[in-house]
Amino acid sequence: MKIINTIDFERTYLEPISFVPTMGALHEGHLSLVQQAKEFSDQVWMSIYVNELQFNNTEDFNTYPRDLDGDISKAEKAGVDILFVPKEELLLGGRRVEKVLSGEKGKILEGFSRPGHFDGVLTIVNSLLRLTLPTYLVLGQKDAQQFYIIRDKLSNKFPKTKFISAPIVRDSSGLALSSRNRLLGENSRNLARELFNTLRIFSFNLSDGDSESLSLNKARKHIMNFESIVIDYLQVVDVETFESLNEKTREFYVLIAATIDGVRLIDNIRVEKKMEDYHFDLGVNLLGEEIR
Ligand code: PAJ
Repeated sequence: MKIINTIDFERTYLEPISFVPTMGALHEGHLSLVQQAKEFSDQVWMSIYVNELQFNNTEDFNTYPRDLDGDISKAEKAGVDILFVPKEELLLGGRRVEKVLSGEKGKILEGFSRPGHFDGVLTIVNSLLRLTLPTYLVLGQKDAQQFYIIRDKLSNKFPKTKFISAPIVRDSSGLALSSRNRLLGENSRNLARELFNTLRIFSFNLSDGDSESLSLNKARKHIMNFESIVIDYLQVVDVETFESLNEKTREFYVLIAATIDGVRLIDNIRVEKKMEDYHFDLGVNLLGEEIR
């Protein structure tokens, strides 16, 4: 694996590469994106950059976990070919930085609670894409709204890049892997499982014939039982529009965000309506097997 801090050559689309942008503190979720990327191209690039622009809270930025040495060995083992650890000036260098705005969809859900967050994400991902010009950009469904906004705002600017979303990786308790899980104590970690349990309660009730809104109410009632979980939102949105469901909706996300002991966590499941039935995409376990 080659580690680079700068890209001082003109990349072209000629050589197919898959690109996995990250903020480091790597876990099996990030590494699953590398496995996915390997299926698309021989060459896999990963970047590690803790992007201050997307933190709307300085303390959150300062306490975000960082472990470059650990990350380097994990990336190498996972089969990353080029690890790009950009210097700040390269991405945000003075006048050259092009700000990209996320618009209306960047102001709801995550964007409502974290104003400016998605503008920061888009600005940095745009800079990274300009430098790396990947054939495939591989992102996680874990951050469903992020995927939606990146594809929506950047696919026209990078017409030769395909935007891929990979399944959520969960531990054996169902907890979605996240760099922020490192900030949770044992009790908080146990409580954090309730996010996935809440999504499952939604899926069980929906399968049992309850409506979407009744299933949502029952799920909400469950999570409200836990005093130490501060729920931010539990909502359903159409996969295609990120708006409320309507009669045309075929697939939707159930999205949840909550803070536990000061740590903000998000999770989601994807639901496909099939005639009389529903199909649930709950993610995969650590072995890459679909969760049922
Ligand atoms: P980060 O939180 O490090 O996540 C990097 C990528 O890993 C994202 O595409 C995210 O959706 C994916 N990911 C995180 N946890 C996952 C899990 N449990 N299963 C599958 N994929 C998972 O997202 C960012 O960084 C930043 O916003 C970034 C896009 C790098 C821009 O700064």
